[in-house]
Amino acid sequence: MDNICAEGWMRTSRFEPTPSWERALNGPPDDAHLLLIAADGAVPVGWCRLFPTEVPGEAELGIGLLKPYRNQGAGTQMVRQALGWANQRGISRLTLTTRADNARAVRVFEKCGFEFTGRHEDIWLEMARSIGGFCHDDR
Ligand SMILES: CC(C)(COP(=O)(O)OP(=O)(O)OC[C@H]1O[C@@H](n2cnc3c(N)ncnc32)[C@H](O)[C@@H]1OP(=O)(O)O)[C@@H](O)C(=O)NCCC(=O)NCCS
Repeated sequence: MDNICAEGWMRTSRFEPTPSWERALNGPPDDAHLLLIAADGAVPVGWCRLFPTEVPGEAELGIGLLKPYRNQGAGTQMVRQALGWANQRGISRLTLTTRADNARAVRVFEKCGFEFTGRHEDIWLEMARSIGGFCHDDR
């Protein structure tokens, strides 16, 4: 995770565990925190997480894969899995922040039904999607 953060795609240049991260990594499974791990055999190569925001019924998505594992469909697959998980738990809205120049990430999120909701500090895009249908747009 430090390696992926160091590439500059995340809001922090290294992994900084928040209370939600501590809970997802060390706590028992719960209905509010999802942490999916992509693995090559026993070796973790990526993650996708959904953590609750301060808004009831809303969760924030984050995702990252090590370089050799990108562009092979794993990211899309994890986002879709996360959507299914959120749908089953009655979460009504997902949000995320990504860099405006992260064309591949934007492509994956749009493909999975996320739309632009804002922009800040020039480089960060806010995106969101409602839950209640799966990724219907498979362009
Ligand atoms: C963003 C990320 C999670 C996407 O996962 P992935 O497994 O690489 O993506 P997928 O293979 O599922 O899909 C990539 C899509 O982007 C497209 N794509 C690839 N490079 C692209 C580019 N430069 N511009 C536009 N689209 C691009 C691919 O063609 C594919 O679309 P398609 O399925 O319609 O052909 C992954 O690349 C990653 O971890 N990147 C670094 C960390 C990061 O950016 N995290 C997100 C921060 S919010």
